[in-house]
Amino acid sequence: MRAAVLERLGTADALRISERPDPVPVAGEVLVRIRAASVNPVDWKIATGKLKLIFPVVMPWIPGCDFSGEVVAVASKEGPFRVGDRVIGMVPPNRGGGWAELMAAPVSCLAPMPPAMDWEEAAGLPLAGLTALQSLRTLGRLQEGESVLINGAAGGVGCLALQLAQALGGRAWAVARAEQADRLHDLGAAEVWDYREGPVWRRPEFFHLVFDAAATLPALRGLRLLVRGGRFITTLPSPTYPFGKIVARLRGGYLRVVRAAPVAEDFDFLARLVEAGRLRVPVERVYPLEETVEAQRQNRAGGGFGKIIVRMDC
Ligand SMILES: NC(=O)c1ccc[n+]([C@@H]2O[C@H](COP(=O)([O-])OP(=O)(O)OC[C@H]3O[C@@H](n4cnc5c(N)ncnc54)[C@H](OP(=O)(O)O)[C@@H]3O)[C@@H](O)[C@H]2O)c1
Repeated sequence: MRAAVLERLGTADALRISERPDPVPVAGEVLVRIRAASVNPVDWKIATGKLKLIFPVVMPWIPGCDFSGEVVAVASKEGPFRVGDRVIGMVPPNRGGGWAELMAAPVSCLAPMPPAMDWEEAAGLPLAGLTALQSLRTLGRLQEGESVLINGAAGGVGCLALQLAQALGGRAWAVARAEQADRLHDLGAAEVWDYREGPVWRRPEFFHLVFDAAATLPALRGLRLLVRGGRFITTLPSPTYPFGKIVARLRGGYLRVVRAAPVAEDFDFLARLVEAGRLRVPVERVYPLEETVEAQRQNRAGGGFGKIIVRMDC
């Protein structure tokens, strides 16, 4: 099979397209022919080597942790998937393997692909969708009628969080570039604030929930945006995170960091919203496998809206 392979850590630009042996599924796995996979910041962050303590990788490494595709072989006939099933999936980022034509994927990481989606949209759903849902619903316990501030609302996670906030009955404010305001209002943002116009934590508004999907709000500053008893969920802990946890608790709320996981009930929840036309994955651009380095560069550069996708058979 063809795959985008990194031979050693240092830079994501060293990724090369090469021939690798086809993977063979073992018990608990199925073989998936990958149609599309998404680009996530964690892929190029791991490639730099700076995350090797949290996300150790075995070299050579094929990045790519969420994808869409079809089952082409099963290790056991007893499992939940059959040959020909369309699936989406999310594996741990350091396991990777998504930027390849085939993956032996654990069935616990897979879910049926929502029929209303095409391969590209479906590939962008798992990691961003589960992160957004588990931040707002599982950790953030967003309630009907509550307000939520979404920092990084134009990103992969943010675009989905904005829509999920409304599906859960909340009212969402978005922090993003002003150029994205029209599209963010289309997704339901009540207001859009440009992060380049000054620190968002200096604003006079207060929220029941702050979700830092961009991972740029220092903990103590993000807490300033909360009503008493408010919750602050972030995608990455800032250096002041431990102290922020104490301060949040003293103010009757809490501060948590999300660690997205492939929970079957959450996959179902996302799929039902997609089928109801209440959740979509905006795709900024689709690249062929041969241009994966360029796809990652675009993600690092920012300025997009939604997900960047790598398509295997372009
Ligand atoms: N803990 C977990 O389980 C988990 C899961 C998924 C993702 N993550 C992390 O969550 C973060 C976002 O992931 P993603 O997939 O959404 O990335 P993404 O698609 O690259 O989006 C990041 C967004 O953040 C925005 N941004 C950059 N600087 C900002 C600032 N100072 N203030 C407000 N927004 C700013 C970017 O806007 P511009 O385009 O204007 O630069 C972009 O829209 C990444 O750090 C990722 O590693 C964590």
